Amino acid sequence: MGMKGKEMVERAGIDVHALIQLLNKAYSDEWLAYYQYWVGAKVAVGPLAPALIPELEEHAAEELAHAQKLASRIIQLGGTPVLSPEQWYRETTCGYLTPSDPDAAKLLKQNLQGERCAIEIYGKLLELVKGKDMITGNMIRKIMEEEVEHEQDLEDLGYNFLGDDFEKKSCGCSDK
Ligand SMILES: [Fe+2]
Ligand SMILES: [Fe+2]
Repeated sequence: MGMKGKEMVERAGIDVHALIQLLNKAYSDEWLAYYQYWVGAKVAVGPLAPALIPELEEHAAEELAHAQKLASRIIQLGGTPVLSPEQWYRETTCGYLTPSDPDAAKLLKQNLQGERCAIEIYGKLLELVKGKDMITGNMIRKIMEEEVEHEQDLEDLGYNFLGDDFEKKSCGCSDK
């Protein structure tokens, strides 16, 4: 724990305990997003798969890097990153959409839903720490920038390969 660093955040009026809980929720989302992308890249089939798979692999690596950043910040603030995968499920906001249908077009839509949820979550977190905790704020801003890029990447693929109305077609999204 960075004693002085934590004290500064507290002095700025942040409830550090509550912040750690929110960061752990985002951390759980990142691990689930990582696995959803990682395993999606393994199972994807169909005409869109060759274009989608490299994107899924790149996003997986970036979600894992987001989890690493969040874990470091949680520790700096005196917290402990979620220690078990079961707890990811209890903490998650964005959930896990099982890629039970390996059709790449369905995977794309599931992952797009996850990205939009992540953008929403990080927007709220940024609002919470704005002007009070610059370190967490800067980290979240960088993560959020990549989530916005992920959303754009998936939208571009969707429109290019599936047509203008791809968002209107059924997502097949279920699970938590
Ligand atoms: Fe992420
Ligand atoms: Fe993402």
